[in-house]
Amino acid sequence: MSENTKKAKGGNYLSAKESRRISKQNRKITTAMEKKYRRKRVPEAEYLTKMRDEKNVVEFDNLHTYFFTDTGTVKAVDGVSFAVPQGKTVGVVGESGCGKSVTSLSLMQLLQRPQGQIVSGEIRLNLGGKAYDVAKMPMEAMEKIRGNQVSMIFQEPMTSLNPVFRIGAQVDEVIALHNPTWTKKQVKEHTIEMLKLVGIANSEGVYSMYPHELSGGMRQRVMISIALSCNPRLIIADEPTTALDVTIQAQILDLLRGLKDKINSSIMLITHDLGVIAEMADYVVVMYAGRVVEKGTVEEIFTHPSHPYTIGLMASKPVINKRVERLYSIPGKVPNPIDMPDYCYFRDRCEMCVEKCAGAYPPVIRLSDTHEVSCYRYEDKEGK
Ligand SMILES: Nc1ncnc2c1ncn2[C@@H]1O[C@H](COP(=O)(O)OP(=O)(O)O)[C@@H](O)[C@H]1O
Ligand code: SF4
Ligand SMILES: [Mg+2]
Repeated sequence: MSENTKKAKGGNYLSAKESRRISKQNRKITTAMEKKYRRKRVPEAEYLTKMRDEKNVVEFDNLHTYFFTDTGTVKAVDGVSFAVPQGKTVGVVGESGCGKSVTSLSLMQLLQRPQGQIVSGEIRLNLGGKAYDVAKMPMEAMEKIRGNQVSMIFQEPMTSLNPVFRIGAQVDEVIALHNPTWTKKQVKEHTIEMLKLVGIANSEGVYSMYPHELSGGMRQRVMISIALSCNPRLIIADEPTTALDVTIQAQILDLLRGLKDKINSSIMLITHDLGVIAEMADYVVVMYAGRVVEKGTVEEIFTHPSHPYTIGLMASKPVINKRVERLYSIPGKVPNPIDMPDYCYFRDRCEMCVEKCAGAYPPVIRLSDTHEVSCYRYEDKEGK
């Protein structure tokens, strides 16, 4: 693997021979992993685990998710650890390409296979009374959990809804799947109720409409009703309002917040928008280049942003009633995930370097019980 990385250094030209060698090696790695994943009737004991804290719904623990591509190994998620507590909203924030979606797709086991693979780490999912390690779960077992215990709302609802089927049929299908003993009439009644719950006034009318007849905001409401139809413990919302305009965005966020409390579930909210985080989240996880660089409560992150990257994100956020010549933007760009440096990933863009930054990747420093940062600037301030 490290050989691949070396060859692909700097994204330089790869000879056809090299590329063939890498694909052959990738095939060997991914075939073995796929074989394991597709096994049938795997004993539960193999993926049974224990939560570190029973109050968490999910615990990511040193997760590594890679894509084995012909140009080298993309380390999309490279040692991510954080937890989502029961009944809380955790905001995951970072620039585009820093591994937010791949983290959530790992939890759902919806990675683009066979090249996308969880290579190490644990994802402990609390099912009430027992816990599973999703990273070890075979496909067969995962299918029983997906959409049932954990469900996901994507950015673009038009691509998630099937354009040739009516809304009612699409929601019915999911509800029927989770309630196999219900009659058609019961399923339809429940669908209409769900559509009402997400604030669709004319729910009987919308039941027989096609996706293209609805606005973007209405389609997102339908997607939310599908995601919530089986009272999931955890809702993953990946940029749920990015494609919507500002007023509709506010309505959808309100809706999500209200529904979360109503069905007592938790939300993992992925966004690049700090404004959305400030409004919705209890805890914040800041990701950069496949790693968590800072995490804490929403107050800690907003009043004491500590990692230079978080400070940069804060400075590049527009503030109402404050006139600025030009919005700050962090100089430089995210490093190539095929060829990560062996020092702090942010160093080439950092304006606050200290001497130690020349060394290895910085350790995790605890600033409080809930606030952690990976940066050398805080090495002497631990526990303060
Ligand atoms: N199917 C894939 N094949 C190869 N690389 C991928 C694939 N999906 C995502 N990546 C890479 O993984 C990294 C993280 O992507 P992603 O999680 O989608 O970022 P984010 O959601 O934070 O914008 C990016 O460098 C991206 O190019
Ligand atoms: S460890 Fe150094 S280079 Fe990295 S973010 Fe902190 S100050 Fe900047
Ligand atoms: Mg994404």
